[in-house]
Amino acid sequence: MAEIDFRAEAEALFAFTRDLRRDFHRHPELGFQEHRSAGIVAKLLREFGLQVTEGVGETGVVGVLTGAHPGPTILVRADMDALPIQEENDVPYASEVPGVMHACGHDAHMAMALTVARLLSAHRDALHGTVKFVFQPAEEGLGGAAKMIADGVLEGVDYALAMHVWNEQPLGWLGIADGPTMAAADMFRIRVLGKGGHAAHPNVTEDPVLAASSVVTALQSVVSRHVDPLDAAVVSVASFHAGTAFNIIPPEAVLEGTIRTFEAEVASEVRMRVTRTAHGVAQGLGCRAEVEIVEMNPAVVNAPAVAQVVREAAAALYPEATIDPAARTMGAEDMSLMMYDIPGCYFFVGSANPAKGLDAGHHHPRFNIDENVLPRGTAIMAAAAMALAANPPA
Ligand code: NI
Repeated sequence: MAEIDFRAEAEALFAFTRDLRRDFHRHPELGFQEHRSAGIVAKLLREFGLQVTEGVGETGVVGVLTGAHPGPTILVRADMDALPIQEENDVPYASEVPGVMHACGHDAHMAMALTVARLLSAHRDALHGTVKFVFQPAEEGLGGAAKMIADGVLEGVDYALAMHVWNEQPLGWLGIADGPTMAAADMFRIRVLGKGGHAAHPNVTEDPVLAASSVVTALQSVVSRHVDPLDAAVVSVASFHAGTAFNIIPPEAVLEGTIRTFEAEVASEVRMRVTRTAHGVAQGLGCRAEVEIVEMNPAVVNAPAVAQVVREAAAALYPEATIDPAARTMGAEDMSLMMYDIPGCYFFVGSANPAKGLDAGHHHPRFNIDENVLPRGTAIMAAAAMALAANPPA
């Protein structure tokens, strides 16, 4: 296959990609409400000659590009939803929707994936296999991937690719890891049930506020005392609700939080310890605990052979880039469901530029990227999809 200079081609389309990103940024939509975004995506994919299906997983869009040569089917996924955050950036393309903002970069993901579709469509003569562009709704905890899977989006797919702009690292950094790269996420809820009464007479109550406070403290020992220091895990209590007045000891307190892990054995150990700790501490203080743990997403695990294809494509295009083959974050992603049975690679493209003040983290009201990340992500994704289809790893 003649080498295509995707770096130069993506740079030539910089204004196209940037304008799309800014348009999506100006008009953010929450999960399963991405009607305007989906309409633009579907219209452009049709213009590029793809076979388009709308309404996959509610507001999701799928565009299929068939190459001129035989080969496997590569899924390229971009998420579409914004977040319930009031934007604080003073930019001409700031969100026009009060309280809603593209604060994670999914606007950039849509713009880059559309540009990849445009580029690969123009190179259909050289393209092997099929590229299935998947524009997913509701990544931010609402289950968009599961809905698209239920609608059959993974049928016939051989490999899966996805990327995230990454403001924890500067432009020029690429995280393309082997194995686990994003954590498994659980949600836990602990109800501590006691006996309420007058706050002046605590001796005739069983105080769930004190017991739940002790549970929060004791949970800090789960990772520090029961997880191998060479493994990674997080237990965070993020919400604590109890009581209605200053002089009433309430009958119950409710804690909610999250567990993050990479390995299944670590996850089951942490779940067991959280449960046991909550029961034991509550009981020791005269209360009773009810523990509910919901496994939300498994870890995002890259297939080393696919990650290698992406790293080679990236290094050929950007020899000056820093590639981290061990990049990991405790953040979670429902792309893990699409990659659970399908070998794939989820990679990160450094998008921060501290010198320009573009380094607020994801989900921050001043989150913004250096838009020079757009052609990079585009070129790497286009080259990786094409290479994967032409030379699929055994
Ligand atoms: Ni995100």
